[in-house]
Amino acid sequence: MNPTLTQMHDHRSIRAYTGEVVPKSELQAAFEAAQCAATSANVQVYSAIHVTDPDLLAKLVVISGGQEKVAQCGTFLVICGDMRRHHLLAQSADCACKENLESFLLCTVDASLFAQNLALAAESLGWGTCFIGGIRNDLAAVGAVLNLPQGVYPFFGLCIGRAAEEPWKRPRLPQQAVLFENEYPSDESLLELMSSYDDDMAGYYEKRGATGRRWIGQMEQFFTTPRRTGDRSFYESQGASLE
Ligand SMILES: Cc1cc2nc3c(=O)[nH]c(=O)nc-3n(C[C@H](O)[C@H](O)[C@H](O)COP(=O)(O)O)c2cc1C
Repeated sequence: MNPTLTQMHDHRSIRAYTGEVVPKSELQAAFEAAQCAATSANVQVYSAIHVTDPDLLAKLVVISGGQEKVAQCGTFLVICGDMRRHHLLAQSADCACKENLESFLLCTVDASLFAQNLALAAESLGWGTCFIGGIRNDLAAVGAVLNLPQGVYPFFGLCIGRAAEEPWKRPRLPQQAVLFENEYPSDESLLELMSSYDDDMAGYYEKRGATGRRWIGQMEQFFTTPRRTGDRSFYESQGASLE
């Protein structure tokens, strides 16, 4: 393996931190690398808000369902899709900036590629990371806490900091379950591959002291009811169109 592959294989989400803040120079270096991510037609429809105010962080902990690592990790960012700059350009040129589902997808894809690059860059500098989808528990509250203008869509948070734990690496699905050649595989083969992965995950849980826990059981429950049903109305209230 080359150093990049080794770094990628080393990834695990960190949920306990020493509180050490990432020095400005390192954060800047990570940002510069993250911005090198590919972006649809070079539109760059994303931004990151570095939250440093302890009062705002405390509010984001509550919004995220009591995830203390949001305030304790040292460096916390909110990753957003961002059409704001494009709206400003359109206003200056006196032309329209029409959002639709496609522009919203550009925001989600661009923001995610940027964020993954940022996490990887931070990890390569020796820091631990954890994404925080928990901020979507109450997007309206996030919008109010961060005073987000129209056209800005918070998607998830990112903790960066010095790890205070060494978690086991979480296994992933076998490659045949996610990488296909020429045609999509049969349902039977997918079910079989997921069953073998379920055994891998049972072993992982056992090492973590959660004997009896399994992946399939959790996944069967995961989408039984629609999750975070307020997302659409918040994003639309911020100016997004999902048509
Ligand atoms: C968009 C996104 C949101 C996530 N949100 C949370 C979260 O709110 N809290 C948390 O502890 N982990 C969160 N995670 C981390 C995942 O649980 C984790 O990546 C997954 O279980 C795989 O484990 P690993 O990253 O250690 O390999 C999130 C990951 C992603 C990609």
